[in-house]
Amino acid sequence: MLSRQIASKLGAYETPFYLYDMALLRQTLESVVYESKRYGYHLHYAIKANYDDRILATIREYGLGIDCASGNELQKAIEAGFNPKTIVYAGVGKKDKELRYAIEQQILAINVESLEELYLLDRLSAEAGRITDVALRINPDIDPKTNHCIDTGQADSKFGISYEEILEHTEELKALKNLKLIGIHLHIGSQIRELHVFENMCLKVNLIVENLERLGFSFRFVDVGGGLGVNYDVPENEPIPNFASLFAIIHNHLKVGDREVHFEFGRAIVAECGELITRVLFNKTTATGRRLLIVDASMTELIRPALYGSYHNIENITSESELPKKYTVVGTACESTDVFQENVSLKVSKRGDLIAIKSAGAYGMSMASRYNLHDLPGAVYSDQIE
Ligand code: LLP
Repeated sequence: MLSRQIASKLGAYETPFYLYDMALLRQTLESVVYESKRYGYHLHYAIKANYDDRILATIREYGLGIDCASGNELQKAIEAGFNPKTIVYAGVGKKDKELRYAIEQQILAINVESLEELYLLDRLSAEAGRITDVALRINPDIDPKTNHCIDTGQADSKFGISYEEILEHTEELKALKNLKLIGIHLHIGSQIRELHVFENMCLKVNLIVENLERLGFSFRFVDVGGGLGVNYDVPENEPIPNFASLFAIIHNHLKVGDREVHFEFGRAIVAECGELITRVLFNKTTATGRRLLIVDASMTELIRPALYGSYHNIENITSESELPKKYTVVGTACESTDVFQENVSLKVSKRGDLIAIKSAGAYGMSMASRYNLHDLPGAVYSDQIE
C-alpha cells in the first residue's frame, strides 16, 4: 500500500492521521463507473463510509450520486454539490425535521423503512404542498454471510419493512395522495465476500417486484444497496474490489425488465484508499507475557476492531529490522477493548516507528469520536505530499 512507498515522507506529519491514496481512489472510481456502464447501472456513494470533503469532491467528479442516512448527511451531500435528484435517503428513524428537509430538497427518493414513516411522510408532504418520491425499503430476509454486527436484511433486523406487511396494506399504500412510490430498495448487509449471496437477493427481488406490480404498483427503479466487501486480509492482492463480478451476477439474475438498477457502495469505493498512520509510543510486557505495542491512535480514530472484532492488516513501515516479532497492538483510550490486533507479526518495533493500519478509508474517520477528549485525526492526501 501507499504508506510503505512514501514512509520517509510521513514522519513530518502529526500522528495519528488518515493517509488517503487519491490515485487509488480514482482508479477505483474509474473501475466502478466503467463496469457499471456496461449495464447502464446507476451508482450512489454511501456517504456514511467517509464524508471527507476531498473524497466527496473526487467522487462527484465521476458522476456518482449519494446514499445518505441522516438529515446532516443529506445536507453535506447537497453542500458538496451533488444533484438532489441523484440522492437517496434511507434510515429507520428519520426525525420530522429531517423528513421535512428531505421533502424540500426534492431528492430522487426517500427510502421509507416502516408504514408509520410512510403515513407521516404523506402528511408532512401534504403540509409542504409537495408530492414526494418514495422507495419502499423492503426487508428481504437474506443471510448475507457476513459479520452479524453488520448484516441488515434478515427477518428480525430493524431495517426495512417486511414484505408480508406491505402485502397486507397494499390498498392503503395506493391511497397515499402525497407520495409517489417509484422504487424498491433493499440493502442486505456490508462486507459481503461470498458473492453468491447476491444471487439469492436477486431471486427475492424478482418475486417482490413481480408480485407488487401485479397488485397494481409500478416502479421506476430497483435499488439493491451496497455491501460489496474488500480484502482486509491482504489488501495488496486486491486494491480494487471486483465490481465486474458483482455486476455480472446482478445482470444474470435480476429480472426487472427495463427498470433502472441502482447501487449504493460505501466500503468498496473508499476502504482501500485509506490507511491510519500511527506512531509507536511504548513497548511493555504484561505479567502474563502479553507483549504490548502501544501506539498513539486508538478506537477513537478507528473503532472497527473494538466494535466488531474486525481485522485490519497492520505493518510497521519504518522499522529498520527485518526480524518479525509478535505484538498485541493497543491504543491510548481508557478501554480494555481498545486493541487493534492481538498477536500480530510485525518487524521489531520501537518508540517512534510508524505503523500503518490498512484498509481504513471506510468507516474509519466517519466513526471517529472524541472520547477521552482526543483530537479528531487529520487527513493527508497523497497528491499533496511533496
Ligand atoms: N446502503 C445502505 C442502506 C446502508 O445501510 C449501507 C451501510 C450502505 C448502503 C453501504 O454499505 P457498504 O457498501 O459500505 O457495505 N460501520 C460498519 C458498516 C456499517 C454499514 C452500514 N450501512 C463497518 O465498519 O463495517
